[in-house]
Amino acid sequence: MEKKFFDYIIHGGDYNPDQWINTPEIWDEDMRLMKLAHVNSATVGIFSWAMLEPEEGVYNFEWLDRILGKLHENGIDVILATPSGARPAWLAQKYPEVLRVEENGIRNEYGVRHNHCITSPVYREKVRNINRKLAERYKDHPAVKMWHISNEYSGECHCELCQEAFREWLKKYYHNSLDELNFKWWNGFWSHTITDWSQINSPKYRGENHISAMKLCWDRFVSESHISFYENEIAPLREITPHIPVTTNLMRMRDGINYQELAKKMDLVSWDNYPHWDKGENIEQALETAFYHDMFRSMKSGQPFFMMESTPSQVNWHDVNKLPKPGMQELSSIQAVAHGADSVQYFQWRKSRGGHEKYHGAVVDHCGHENTRVFRDITRLGEKLEKLSDVVGKYSQSRVAVVFDWENTWATKYFHGFNNINRDYRAECIKWYAPLWKKGVTADIISQDDDFSKYDLVIAPFLYMLKDGTDKKIEEYVENGGNFVATYLTGLVDKDDLCFLGGFPANNLKKVFGIWHEDTDALPEGMKNSVLYNGKNYDVVHVCDIIHANEAEVLEKYGKDFYADYPAVTVNSYGKGKAYYVAFRNDDDFAENFLSQFDIRPDADIKLSPDVYMRKRGELIFVMNFSDEERTVTLDKEYTNVITDEKINGEVKLCVSGYLVLK
Ligand code: GLA
Ligand code: ZN
Repeated sequence: MEKKFFDYIIHGGDYNPDQWINTPEIWDEDMRLMKLAHVNSATVGIFSWAMLEPEEGVYNFEWLDRILGKLHENGIDVILATPSGARPAWLAQKYPEVLRVEENGIRNEYGVRHNHCITSPVYREKVRNINRKLAERYKDHPAVKMWHISNEYSGECHCELCQEAFREWLKKYYHNSLDELNFKWWNGFWSHTITDWSQINSPKYRGENHISAMKLCWDRFVSESHISFYENEIAPLREITPHIPVTTNLMRMRDGINYQELAKKMDLVSWDNYPHWDKGENIEQALETAFYHDMFRSMKSGQPFFMMESTPSQVNWHDVNKLPKPGMQELSSIQAVAHGADSVQYFQWRKSRGGHEKYHGAVVDHCGHENTRVFRDITRLGEKLEKLSDVVGKYSQSRVAVVFDWENTWATKYFHGFNNINRDYRAECIKWYAPLWKKGVTADIISQDDDFSKYDLVIAPFLYMLKDGTDKKIEEYVENGGNFVATYLTGLVDKDDLCFLGGFPANNLKKVFGIWHEDTDALPEGMKNSVLYNGKNYDVVHVCDIIHANEAEVLEKYGKDFYADYPAVTVNSYGKGKAYYVAFRNDDDFAENFLSQFDIRPDADIKLSPDVYMRKRGELIFVMNFSDEERTVTLDKEYTNVITDEKINGEVKLCVSGYLVLK
């Protein structure tokens, strides 16, 4: 399958020429250096509002005209940003309502960035205006190829406008009925019955913070507010520049915005990738990063995405910012491409001279020339990326999916009970994704709203909250021949956080899994139960369900405690498919052992060695060494090394951070 916006891999990143407006020779030098570094794209104007509109209604596009012209003359594409991520001081001074109010009820003063009120009509209007001006001015500019909306939307605001908007949101959600709200929030509990909408405020530490259903509503409201803020931003762009695709750069994981929903409104997904390579835990970092790449890729049914930011060297926001080892930046970029990125972009092109990020890695350092290790590394990578343009736009349909559902991240965070300190839903999903990654199987990371029928195997760890219809969907999927794996604490609450009555897992799922989940035990740190599986003894940690097998076949049982001999792993044949229930949590390689029973083919038959990972994309196979040592892989046939054009076969050595791209 193919979906592409460019014919080549985009190589470039955040470019802030406005910081160098008084040194035109640096602009010219940038053009020379970009070409030298095989940079073909620049993301311009992300934080340029004060420069574009120095006074209310007074615009200055002259500098932007000039730099876009220069970039175009030099064959460099432009991704043009809208500037709402940071506002001019005059705007905050004149319209204080645009400043965010923190949970403590105090309105922020002007400063930093990413801190606007999400609701403020004035801010939305001002953003729409400047975006309209940009669109009108550059709609036919030959260099402008994509819109970069704002920057890393995040956070929440507790101002009166947001409180009122939240109440309106609730009225709509609960059909204008306080009875319905009181029922769904179970407000009979602790005498919390609401008798007027004005009694409701946003959840806060010093206020209402124990009603998980309410917190879920707040998260949905905040997320939808960000999405409608984004829609407000793009409205003039869609009207004036319908031919220019739109994206906004997401972060690794921000609970507050349902990225799976926001992605639906983008032409392509992009995200900012900052693995902690300097931590000395490369495999964990590589695994997590792989998971996120696949998550973002899956948000638009597997279509390629952009890695909109990454650092050319160190960052400036860890406690201690160690330089990554030579080669790591390149391997990290190749990993992105292998998993579906059609871009390798950096924050930032040139280090700023002053300001908060002056020591953040950049392609061009303060020395200003190309004779640096980082510049040489980026140049070498740029040359190599040019050889990989065959892969652009390519993707294929995976046969396996892991369900990582955004709203379930909220629901699993808020309830009180069982194990309150060891719950991390995301970590559990990554744990089940890990064996697939290790084996070289391309897995999708999907939400519970996505279509399961495309997959042979769907793994849904800890799917605690079931939205309307998910139970039926699982049933149909299994009935029609699918393999569905669920784990502990599956199907306890509905989308409004009310427990299902009549036993867990919810409704028809008892029939589908052939079990009844009666109790859940929580194990303090250090306390363990055990399960023998495939000849190996596994620790049961943190949490485990006590279940009864009705129709299900019991594959393994617990080893001790009063529920020794109760089922721990079951399978139920249902229709043409099978439903598996793994009733406990294990932090070792149980998932890998368990998944080995399924016939899931790796992307290629190359024999990997430990800490070497493989991924096929289009015609190309990427083999990547994340270990700290040289490794050997054994190829199953003759391949062409796409980077060197050599034919290779048999045993091949990979140096530390080495990789192969094979065809
Ligand atoms: C984020 C931002 C950038 C920059 C980098 C630094 O990703 O989007 O503007 O601050 O972090 O790592
Ligand atoms: Zn607000």
